[in-house]
Amino acid sequence: MDDLRQKYLAAINSADDEAALEDLRVAAVGKKGEVSLKMRELGKMTPEERQVAGPALNALKDEINSALAAKKVALEDVALDARLAGEWLDVTLPGRTRRQGTIHPVSQVTEEVTAILADMGFAVAEGPQIEDDWHNFDALNIPGHHSARTEMDTFYMARPEGDNRPPHVLRTHTSPVQIRSMLEHGAPIRIICPGRVYRADYDQTHTPMFHQVEGLAIDKDISMANLKWVLEEFFSAFFGTKVKTRFRASHFPFTEPSAEVDIQCSWEGGTVKVGEGDGWLEVLGSGMVHPHVLRSGGVDPDQWQGFAFGMGIDRMAMLKYGVPDLRAFFDSDLRWLRHYGFSSLAVPTLHGGL
Ligand code: DAH
Repeated sequence: MDDLRQKYLAAINSADDEAALEDLRVAAVGKKGEVSLKMRELGKMTPEERQVAGPALNALKDEINSALAAKKVALEDVALDARLAGEWLDVTLPGRTRRQGTIHPVSQVTEEVTAILADMGFAVAEGPQIEDDWHNFDALNIPGHHSARTEMDTFYMARPEGDNRPPHVLRTHTSPVQIRSMLEHGAPIRIICPGRVYRADYDQTHTPMFHQVEGLAIDKDISMANLKWVLEEFFSAFFGTKVKTRFRASHFPFTEPSAEVDIQCSWEGGTVKVGEGDGWLEVLGSGMVHPHVLRSGGVDPDQWQGFAFGMGIDRMAMLKYGVPDLRAFFDSDLRWLRHYGFSSLAVPTLHGGL
């Protein structure tokens, strides 16, 4: 019995998983295990022998069972320790920061401009950036020989060899959307069109791609007075301060009369401040829509009249947010974007403030 005891206790002690323990349990105290077989032999013993052997075998069985149980717990502890070591997680470590993108100033200002003018009842219209020359020029009263075609440094699209129709252009302004909108919706109409435009020009204040917003309001009795009110309201809301405007007589083929509009500003210390001082800054072109243009848009100039204006969005962004060089807008320099960009959650609204 001592041999059995030593054999099993030693084996249990050095078992290294639960499967080995189970094998040992079957071999020792299972139905056909060595200890169980010995117990069956008790029947063949004399009563005296049985009195000694019986309790000793029971004690051995108990001892083996509790050794098995203790070893099982020990093995579980080891397994748990190994898991804890392997899956250790320091919840006190600082979180990993994720880089957040920013909203580009051009997008932000487009939203601001749209919020202000939408509040005045202007709907947003869109047109293609690749435009045919009728919409970009002729329909806007800019005939083939007109100097505006060359002055605008137009980008022309190539036609296949032998195709002699006039080439398409990258639209040089957002004005063609006036025509498209009138043809689609007729009069009365009140729209703005923010979008990309293209001209072959490159210096501190010009890039070959830039942004404009076009405005158009046509009804029975719309006049220059309405134009002036809309623009003054617009600038004051946009810059967050009362801004005086100055209308200077000018010429555009698509308006008659035409006016260039300046806003009040000061130039002190090399920086422009809008809404103060006695300087002026030219910011847009405007006027009463020319009868030819109304007719191109399918609108009868004997019944309808109204104003139009065109303004540079990038220019507005530079002025409002103090950006000195337009070219940096389109360099995709991350440091610039992080500095001048806006939080994606700071959606411009009139009630939230611009
Ligand atoms: N299309 C002109 C440009 O790009 C801007 C402009 C001037 C638009 C007068 C207008 C307008 O609607 O009435 O230079």
